Amino acid sequence: MSILITGGAGYIGSHTCLCLIEKGYDVVVIDNLDNASDESLKRVTRLTGKEIPFYEEDVRNTDKVIEIIGKHNVDSVIHFAGLKAVGESVAKPLMYYENNLVSTVHLAEAMEKTGVKKLIFSSSATVYSQNNIVPLTEEGNLGCTNPYGWTKLMNEQILRDAAKAHPDWSIVLLRYFNPVGAHESGTIGEDPSGTPNNLMPYVSQTAVGRRDHLTVYGDDYDTHDGTGVRDYIHVMDLAMGHVAAVEYASRFNGCDAINLGTGVGYSVLDMVKAFEKANGLKIPYVIGPRRPGDIATVYSNPEKAARLLGWKAERTLEDMCRDQWNWQKNNPNGYR
Ligand code: NAD
Ligand code: WQD
Repeated sequence: MSILITGGAGYIGSHTCLCLIEKGYDVVVIDNLDNASDESLKRVTRLTGKEIPFYEEDVRNTDKVIEIIGKHNVDSVIHFAGLKAVGESVAKPLMYYENNLVSTVHLAEAMEKTGVKKLIFSSSATVYSQNNIVPLTEEGNLGCTNPYGWTKLMNEQILRDAAKAHPDWSIVLLRYFNPVGAHESGTIGEDPSGTPNNLMPYVSQTAVGRRDHLTVYGDDYDTHDGTGVRDYIHVMDLAMGHVAAVEYASRFNGCDAINLGTGVGYSVLDMVKAFEKANGLKIPYVIGPRRPGDIATVYSNPEKAARLLGWKAERTLEDMCRDQWNWQKNNPNGYR
């Protein structure tokens, strides 16, 4: 039996492959390498001593997915594959809807045709609308402000309907908060193409000299220091959340959404200071205007994950900052 990992060469996928292998699972990866390098998987092999069957394929290619499922005796699927840049999704909405929605529909069709019944889907805290109170529970109001977010919410709906039509299916919609950090070896990590959109890769690329300075997007929010507050979660904790979700999928039928966060919010300046302290570095920054679409405070209520998955985030803010830098300083240009 193996687990099919779509988008497994990417940031969260590669860390999850590593955790699954360490827990004794067999994995098989499909990734079209649109936003990744297969070097990540070679490094996972180096860390675990286990070859990973890898197919440079598009998930939308249903026939190929069916063939791979049969060949590797796939029992469950973790679906990471997707485009994820919010700004790009505003500029190229059709590309986002086409890639992110068609891939899920075709993957579910491949599951139908092959009898695979368990699916873990990468959703996002971005599916919560802006009119909620924090901490966010899974019952929070839903709604998005950009096409990327809508693809996540629409995918959740598609999968809920698929689960309704197949009462013996188990679908776990994992709503990630803000993944950061890297495997503690510094061997695998996040390798954004072009200028990073997210805070922590920007901070570590500034530390390594690839960026002049960080621009803090606004210091006039209603937060303890005026900068935006988010729920940063170590990518290894997130990866372990997927191991727990795969195990949960064997115990229940239906479709359920679960937050993966720490339940703690840190501001942009908290993160900068923690990164400086953990690594003995200075991060030059300037205060800029607010980024359109941002809100003051987002953090999770992680109780449902603890209750249903028996999982909670364990790594500290210091671990996140140390591991983020360990990866960046060992790999100043990422996998290139
Ligand atoms: P990533 O870009 O590193 O990984 C996604 C992978 O999917 C990439 O390797 C890419 O090449 C591949 N891919 C894209 N479209 C594909 C297709 N049609 N067929 C095959 N492969 C395809 O991103 P990540 O940060 O690892 O995110 C993984 C998932 O989690 C994504 O669905 C993302 O939207 C979601 N997510 C990410 C975050 C975050 O902040 N990183 C937060 C919430 C949710
Ligand atoms: C965090 C904080 C910024 C960059 C995004 C997506 C979301 C999800 C995770 C996938 C905010 C501030 C950032 C910078 C800054 N992805 N910031 N200077 O916006 O919470 O979420 O990634 O599902 O959909 O929207 O994360 O890392 O971009 O920003 O001041 O150069 O850092 O304003 O307060 P965000 P982020």
